[in-house]
Amino acid sequence: MKKIFITGGAGFIGSNAAHYFFKKKWQVYIFDNLSRKGTIFNIKWLKKETNVRFIRGDIRKFKELSKTLSNINPNVIIHCAGQVAVTTSFLNPREDFEINALGNLNVLESIRVNKLKSTVIYTSTNKVYGNLGSNKVKIDKNRYIYKNNIKGIDEENKTDFHSPYGCSKGAADQYVRDYSRMYGINGYVLRQSCIYGPNQFGIEDQGWLAWFVIASILEKKNYYIRRWQASKRFIIY
Ligand SMILES: NC(=O)c1ccc[n+]([C@@H]2O[C@H](COP(=O)([O-])OP(=O)(O)OC[C@H]3O[C@@H](n4cnc5c(N)ncnc54)[C@H](O)[C@@H]3O)[C@@H](O)[C@H]2O)c1
Repeated sequence: MKKIFITGGAGFIGSNAAHYFFKKKWQVYIFDNLSRKGTIFNIKWLKKETNVRFIRGDIRKFKELSKTLSNINPNVIIHCAGQVAVTTSFLNPREDFEINALGNLNVLESIRVNKLKSTVIYTSTNKVYGNLGSNKVKIDKNRYIYKNNIKGIDEENKTDFHSPYGCSKGAADQYVRDYSRMYGINGYVLRQSCIYGPNQFGIEDQGWLAWFVIASILEKKNYYIRRWQASKRFIIY
């Protein structure tokens, strides 16, 4: 039976991936410190639907992570654990760095020092491309499109990290690519953009589509606008 290890497996993307691979008859391990609100609901859901194994742990703790990975020796690692909000990264850039950049290095080093053959998939972000200011946008019917780039931004676009979150995720993104080049690790980077769906507990700081729906159902519209007006720290990307 193939084994998959998902960091941040109690979160939105991680729990959906865990469920998907369980249904594909993989042995699934999730590793999460449950720091995100709502994760406990995802753990309950996974316990009800699957026999995924849950390990409570923190990717910042190298020894613990390395030992766990060495014991399990998974075929695939999906690295989803992260500090996920641009806004929070402004308030605490050190913690953001420790979770996103150092935590990712801990995953890579666990593979390298234990000589694992695990494929690693990193959940990166569109923020690695910066604010893309030179790409002018226009309205096309009821959506925005790029004037000179109708198909959008692809991987050939130059990277330009913006915000502490952009830097910590971007550093992790580049480390995965470079560990593949330098140490022959089988690494892949997915640069995602505003993913939404079931098991997502969106808040003002991250998971906006989910948050807008929640705010609308709870009629929090006025509260939301008041907070936005009061707080100049909101940066729209
Ligand atoms: N959702 C999106 O639109 C989107 C877009 C681009 C990139 N990403 C990236 O994808 C990944 C998953 O995103 P998500 O939307 O599922 O977020 P999420 O917050 O639902 O999941 C992240 C999980 O990581 C866990 N975690 C946080 N710090 C940890 C630590 N130090 N040790 C162990 N676990 C820790 C949290 O408890 C949570 O369960 C993140 O790395 C995020 O940056 C998401």
